[in-house]
Amino acid sequence: MAASTNFLLFSASLFFFIVSPSIQASFRPKALLLPLSKDASTLQYITQIKQRTPLLPLNLTLDVGGDSFWVDCDNGYVSSSYKPVPCNSAACNLAYSPSCATCFDAPKPGCNNNTCNLFPTNNVKSTATIGEVAQDVVSVQSTDGKNPGEVVTVSKFMFTCGSSFLMEGLASGVKGVAGLGRTKISMPSQFSAAFSFPRKFAVCLSSSNGVIFFGDGPYTFLPSNTDISKSLVYTPLILNPVKTSGVSSPGEPSSDYYIGVTGIAVNQKPVALNKTLLSINKQGNGGTKISTVVPYTVMETSIYKAVVEAFMKQIPMVHTVPAVAPFGTCFDAKSFRSSRVGPAVPQIDLLLPNRVAWRIFGANSMVQVESNVLCLGLVDGGSDPTTSIEIGGHQMEDNLVQIDLAASRLGFSSSLLFRQTTCSNFNFTQAS
Ligand SMILES: *[C@@H]1O[C@H](CO)[C@@H](O)[C@H](O)[C@H]1NC(C)=O
Ligand SMILES: *[C@@H]1O[C@H](CO)[C@@H](O)[C@H](O)[C@H]1NC(C)=O
Ligand SMILES: *[C@@H]1O[C@H](CO)[C@@H](O)[C@H](O)[C@H]1NC(C)=O
Ligand SMILES: *[C@@H]1O[C@H](CO)[C@@H](O)[C@H](O)[C@H]1NC(C)=O
Repeated sequence: MAASTNFLLFSASLFFFIVSPSIQASFRPKALLLPLSKDASTLQYITQIKQRTPLLPLNLTLDVGGDSFWVDCDNGYVSSSYKPVPCNSAACNLAYSPSCATCFDAPKPGCNNNTCNLFPTNNVKSTATIGEVAQDVVSVQSTDGKNPGEVVTVSKFMFTCGSSFLMEGLASGVKGVAGLGRTKISMPSQFSAAFSFPRKFAVCLSSSNGVIFFGDGPYTFLPSNTDISKSLVYTPLILNPVKTSGVSSPGEPSSDYYIGVTGIAVNQKPVALNKTLLSINKQGNGGTKISTVVPYTVMETSIYKAVVEAFMKQIPMVHTVPAVAPFGTCFDAKSFRSSRVGPAVPQIDLLLPNRVAWRIFGANSMVQVESNVLCLGLVDGGSDPTTSIEIGGHQMEDNLVQIDLAASRLGFSSSLLFRQTTCSNFNFTQAS
């Protein structure tokens, strides 16, 4: 009996000794997690990732269509694991049209010779500059879709070096931009490649604390552990073959996520729109994309006017009050009763192919600008914007939006408020 127990103990400890390090090393997360918060003064969505050696938590502005992950290398980039990416290397060739650069300063992060260079872009201010492409360690939490799990690291995660001037317009304390766009070097592409998980990610924006998932669902939210990945509605993603933001090379496609809005309806009544504006033309202009760097949905003037007019027609008894910029149509907040999905106002539907609609309710269409003033949260984008409709942050809050690159489709949940949850209800308590 004793001998057999000893044998078991011995073999158990041998088992752990041999196996546990390899379990560590081969742990393959199915999905990863990044937290989101909202900066009150810029209305930017901020995420946090750990990078460098020693690991440093970095706040980054989220840019869902941004072509790369970049950080300011001009100020205090210290890391023993920083590696510039050489010209013509496999890593460099993942970028669309890299150049090869020489730097005449003393070598430092952001300044090395014969390195791969790209143009990191600040889409808040529409600025871009040339910057060295590099690799460094990043560390993120994995998830089972319900709670945060084990922390995992990627030892050679690519990013681009931005500079101090590129930081202008970003929220205070932010060190760069988390670009989740449609490129091989964006964060989702790199995470999917590093851990061989599906090329999918989901963004759940919140006015307080939201979440980004890399990988497939479940995407579970409290209080009832509702898996939102089970109830997404899908629409095809459209590739704009012409890049219209930042610096582009001939033939370079856009990194933005476009969807095929075919019309808009207010209280299910179609609004007459100039359909030409809804498609993407040869120059890459027009169409509809999602954006986390515009706080409110921006529409080309004729679309904006038609939607506002249709909205007003549905509420003939309600009077407007002086508008508060950037909005053009505001009301006394007492004009509308409240509902589970915000002020009870006419619903705005973005009509999509195959009888699909992205329905926008009061919580997403209206913005409380003062205690007694509520505005229709759409912004007039002028008569010649690059993109006709940019679906902005406020309209996506408490809606989960999934990008599924493998299937080339965008999944959306519509308002989570209907399901008695919000994007701030992910359980960030680590399971023990
Ligand atoms: C790069 O090479 C140039 C000339 O070949 C030299 O002047 C410069 O110091 C080098 N820069 C770095 C960062 O090594
Ligand atoms: C980063 O963001 C977090 C969460 O919003 C905030 O608490 C923290 O102060 C920020 N850090 C910096 C350096 O701004
Ligand atoms: C519709 O929009 C296109 C593109 O801006 C423009 O060329 C055309 O004149 C517009 N049509 C009408 C009827 O306004
Ligand atoms: C959040 O997750 C933790 C860890 O699994 C669990 O102990 C806790 O009960 C969860 N919170 C709620 C409100 O369910």
